Order: sequence, then C-alpha cells, then structure tokens
Amino acid sequence: MSYLGKETCFTWLGHSTFLIETPSGRRVLVDPWLESNPTCPDEYKKIDDIDLMLITHGHSDHMADAVDVAKRTGCRVVCNYEIGHWLGSKGIEHLTAMNKGGTIESASLQITMTHAFHSSGIVDGDRMIYGGEPAGYVVETENEFRFYIAGDTCVFGDMALIGELHNPLMAILPIGDHYTMGPREAAKAAHLLGVKMVLPCHWGTFDQLHGTPEKLRQALGTLPIEVFDLAPGETLE
Ligand code: NI
Ligand code: MN
Repeated sequence: MSYLGKETCFTWLGHSTFLIETPSGRRVLVDPWLESNPTCPDEYKKIDDIDLMLITHGHSDHMADAVDVAKRTGCRVVCNYEIGHWLGSKGIEHLTAMNKGGTIESASLQITMTHAFHSSGIVDGDRMIYGGEPAGYVVETENEFRFYIAGDTCVFGDMALIGELHNPLMAILPIGDHYTMGPREAAKAAHLLGVKMVLPCHWGTFDQLHGTPEKLRQALGTLPIEVFDLAPGETLE
C-alpha cells in the first residue's frame, strides 16, 4: 500500500510535533515542542513561516514553544478555550479557541475538535494552571483528505463514532505507552477508527516511551492497515 495523502505532507519533528503542508501550501504546526525536545532536528528548532498552529492539550511536551512560535510567525493558534485564555494572557493575538464537537475553518482546512482521555495542566513558573480538557482533531483538507490527530489519549470506544462520523483515512496516534496508549491499544484504536494508515508518534523520546511502529505492526496482525515509521525530520509525502 502506498501513501494516499493527496498532496498533504507530514514531517515528524519528534515526539508529537508535526509540520504539515497542505495541498495549497499552508504550513500547519501541531503541538510545538522544539527547543527542548531532545529528538527535534536542529534545523526545525527555530521554525518560521507557519500559517496555523494546532494544540491538543496544555502539557509542555505539546506546547512549550507555542508562545515563541506564535509571536515570531504571527500564525493563527487553534486550541481549547482555557489554553486560549492562557495564551491570550501571554500576548498571543490570533487565537481561535474552540471546544469539542465544534468545527472551524482555518487555512482552508476544516478542523473539528474531538475528545481525548488524558489531562491538560499548564505549567507556568512554579504553578500548575487548569488547561481545560485534552482534545484531538479531525482535519479535512481542501481536496477532502481527512486525517485524525488523537493527541495524548488512551484508546476509547467512541473512536468508532469518530470513524463513523468523519471517516478519516489516516490517524496520527501516540504509541509510546506510559503516558498514552501503547502499541496494543493503538492497534485497537486504528481498528475502531477504520483508518487505512497510521502515523505513530509520542514514542522513542524517552526510555519509558518504548512502543515502536514495529510493535504496532505486530499488534495489528493481518489487519490491512499501513504503519509509517518516520525518523525525526523525515517527511511522509
Ligand atoms: Ni500529555
Ligand atoms: Mn505528551
């Protein structure tokens, strides 16, 4: 099976950070963790020219560089209401705060916020601030390619509902274990979603994130689902 991404390119910047380039050339940064991300390639640590940023939840391994990138690039930021409030207090202006079940249009994309089971506190100095609830996104490009970004989550039965409602072709799933689902749960997630392709993330950053794409392939067995195995800095295109 080959990649069916219809001119949408995904560059993995390590952990859960992705740079996505859409068919019309818009650049979307997902869960920006760059400077202190041990697996982010040097050439992406000071990324510029971003049109849109998507944030799944408040943990620092998903938004440590959000303020810096948003100020430097002037990109629009899509996130939950509470994170939006916090980013606003830090001087970020181009914010689209939303909540689960809602769909917005930005950078020619249809973006739906979905549920996730995790936590979302924002560390601000020595305080932990309420960051709302963690989320995922279903994104549809202008040429009707739909993909699902799970965010940090365990597997849950309503992934079948996400599949039924949105019918994504590909899912970006965490597979590292410990803080999120591991390969066995991710295989069940892919099955519930009905996707044909999985782009794994949230693995290999630290020793305890021991799930691997190969373990996910083994857990999927004979299911006809393609698992991509990118190295940080590599692009699926
Ligand atoms: Ni997290
Ligand atoms: Mn995380």
